[in-house]
Amino acid sequence: MFFRSLPSLSFRFVVSPCASLISPPVRSLLPSSNPKFRSDSLLRLYSSSADTPPPAPVSSDNINNDDDESRRTQNKNANKNSKQNRRDNIGKAKAVDRGQYQNRYVHRPNNPLSGLPDTSKPFTVLGIETSCDDTGVAVVESTGKILGESIASQAGIHENFGGIVPGLAKEAHAANIQATIADALDKAGMDVRDVDAIAVTVGPGLEICLRVGCEAAKTLAIAHSKPFVGVHHLEAHILMSRLNSSLEFPFLSLLVSGGHCQLLRCDGIGSYEVIGGTLDDSLGEAYDKVARMLNLPVGGGGGPAVEALAKNGDPSVVKLPIPMQHRKDCDFSFAGLKNAFRMAVNKMKEIRGLEEGGDLAEQDKADLAASFQNVAIKHLEQRLKLAISNTKRDTPAIDKLVVVGGVAANKAIRESLSNICEANEWNFFVPEARLCTDNGVMAAWAGIEKINCNISDVPTTQEVFARYPFSNN
Ligand code: KG4
Ligand code: ZN
Repeated sequence: MFFRSLPSLSFRFVVSPCASLISPPVRSLLPSSNPKFRSDSLLRLYSSSADTPPPAPVSSDNINNDDDESRRTQNKNANKNSKQNRRDNIGKAKAVDRGQYQNRYVHRPNNPLSGLPDTSKPFTVLGIETSCDDTGVAVVESTGKILGESIASQAGIHENFGGIVPGLAKEAHAANIQATIADALDKAGMDVRDVDAIAVTVGPGLEICLRVGCEAAKTLAIAHSKPFVGVHHLEAHILMSRLNSSLEFPFLSLLVSGGHCQLLRCDGIGSYEVIGGTLDDSLGEAYDKVARMLNLPVGGGGGPAVEALAKNGDPSVVKLPIPMQHRKDCDFSFAGLKNAFRMAVNKMKEIRGLEEGGDLAEQDKADLAASFQNVAIKHLEQRLKLAISNTKRDTPAIDKLVVVGGVAANKAIRESLSNICEANEWNFFVPEARLCTDNGVMAAWAGIEKINCNISDVPTTQEVFARYPFSNN
């Protein structure tokens, strides 16, 4: 569930060599005698610009009136430019998705920068995921066996705010990371010294949250001289479809999460081509907003609550428009549907004689939820049918679809997309529902997949990336 509150410009935080940046929470997992680590540097971990207090609010009294005219001209020009930009961008997916069109995320085969475990026999990877609101850690064996898994959910923390508050998420990650790592290791019956490598999500996501997991992983990898792998969060979602399955490359992937809605052609580890992205909101974001409009629980993402409610609703009661029906490309859009939904909620309140803040009856909410889900699924189906028909024409070797990301946990979506595959004689793959949303297993498994391609990274210089296109340049 990231990106919703991220600034539009990409921002990179360069981490200094982590021998001097030890996350306090992982201290007790470190060998106490290691001379590389000095306790006087502990406080430096959280002293980046992202933690600087926001500037004091500017009062209108303080604004110099002499500047008014030039400011008005500047604003006018800025508006003109932004209108022109909007016009230029009509019909193209929004920056975060569109930025990935021409790029390929190219891996570095046969260049394991921090060494590799012995891959001739089963090996284990400790995976850490803190890209958004849950602290996920797991120990996974290269055979696909999940040896130990732990998640510290932040659902209760963000519930009252109606969405994820990045600062609170970071604090919760920092508070929970040590216990979550210890718990996953404990469940695996292992000590950190026993694992063969350490993998961690390094982007995309909330930068201050990513950094907590990344510092923990770097610290452990250096302290225990373990091979280290930086994992791409979207790639990790995609690769979950290969955990304990017979799925081989190439295949088509529909990635539906809180931050993304993309169709990708997946040719191999590190080789992905985005063939469709969202023009505006992601599907997870739309589910979360619908949940908020219906006063449903949204702490851990509103999707599950909307799905549960939709089961009791009649989708024909409220008519909502299917987005972009006449467009012949594989892009998505959910902003129009979200606005139509808002209007439908207000209309329903008006019909029931409720004030704007009043709460609708359970059945009305269920009908609204069912209508939203029904139209969202129709939109996915239409884009997917087009993508499959294009793929059949251009790349007949591909006859498989995987659906991944948090929204892929949705049963109705799984069923409808599986039916489309069946009708097209395509194979359909989807991870176990609980492994669709963010978790530590995905980081560990992506680490395993990369190690199997002879890839590892340098822990001392690993950065985190709020925006992380499928490209390494
Ligand atoms: O992949 P994820 O855990 O985080 C991101 O990488 O963004 O996806 C979270 C999103 C949230 O928007 C959440 O509401 C949605 O996935 N989600 C669902 C369901 N479970 C989670 N949406 C619809 N139905 C579900 N059952
Ligand atoms: Zn995710």
